[in-house]
Amino acid sequence: MEIIIQPDSQQASQVAARIIARLVREKPHAVLGLATGNTPLQLYRNLVDLHRDSGLDFGGVTSFNLDEYIGVPPAHPSSFHSYMWAHLFSQLNMPKERINIPDGTAPDIPAACRKYEQAIRTAGGIDVQVLGLGMNGHIGFNEPSSSLSSRTRIKTLTDETRRGASAAFGGLENVPTHVITLGLGTIMDAKMCLLLAFGKKKAGAVAKMVEGPVMSMVPGSVLQMHPRAVVILDEDAASELKMAAYYNWVLEHKPAWQQY
Ligand code: F6R
Repeated sequence: MEIIIQPDSQQASQVAARIIARLVREKPHAVLGLATGNTPLQLYRNLVDLHRDSGLDFGGVTSFNLDEYIGVPPAHPSSFHSYMWAHLFSQLNMPKERINIPDGTAPDIPAACRKYEQAIRTAGGIDVQVLGLGMNGHIGFNEPSSSLSSRTRIKTLTDETRRGASAAFGGLENVPTHVITLGLGTIMDAKMCLLLAFGKKKAGAVAKMVEGPVMSMVPGSVLQMHPRAVVILDEDAASELKMAAYYNWVLEHKPAWQQY
C-alpha cells in the first residue's frame, strides 16, 4: 500500500484528480470504477474543472459504479444514479452508454449482478477503482464479515450504515436494507485502487485498514493484498497511523518519475 498524507481533503483530492487525469490522458478508453458518498465530491469537482478548463476528454471513458440501493429507482433523489448524474456525469462528455451503475430495480438481481461482472470483463477490467471507507471499515457496501473474495452481489446493510444514510432518505425506516455492491474480489481485480478517507471520524478505520491484520471484519484491509493500492488521506484521517512519519518520508523522497 502506498499511503499519501496531505494537509487537507482539498489537496488530497487534487492528488487523486491528477492520478485519474493522467490515466485518462494516457489511455483515452480507460475504465473507471467510481464511488459515491461525501468523500469523492471534491475529486469529482476537480475532474469537472479539468474537463471544462483544460479539455480533459472523457469521450472514450467507461465507468462502473460500486453500488446501488435495492428497490430504489434510478430517478429517486437519494439513488446513487442521481448522485452520479448530479455531481459528475451531467458535467462531463461521457457517452451515456458507457456509464454503468447497478440497477437496484432489476427484476432478477442475482442475474443483474452476474451481467455487471461480465460487463466489467468485456470492458477490459477496471483501470482505477475509486473507493471511500466506511467507519466500520467497509469498501463498496462490503460490510464487515464480507468474503474477501466476494463478487458483485446482494448485501444486507448494517444498522450503522443505514443510520448514516437516514437523513438522505428522510428517516431510518425509509433506508433500504439491501444493496447491490461490487464484491471485494471484484474490487481486487482492478488494476489500481485509489482509496480516499478524510476527517477524524475515519481515523480508527484507516488505522485498522492500513496497519491492522487483513480480515473480513475490516473489509478495506483486503487492499493490503492489492499490488497497487494508493490510500490518500488528510491529516485527520491519518492521525491514528503509527507509521505516518515513515509514509511522509517515503512521499518526500519519491523520485520525480514516481510522483503524482
Ligand atoms: C459509496 C460506497 C461506500 C462509501 C463509504 C464512505 O459508493 O461504496 O463504501 O464510500 O461509506 O462514505 P462517505 O464518503 O460518505 O464517508
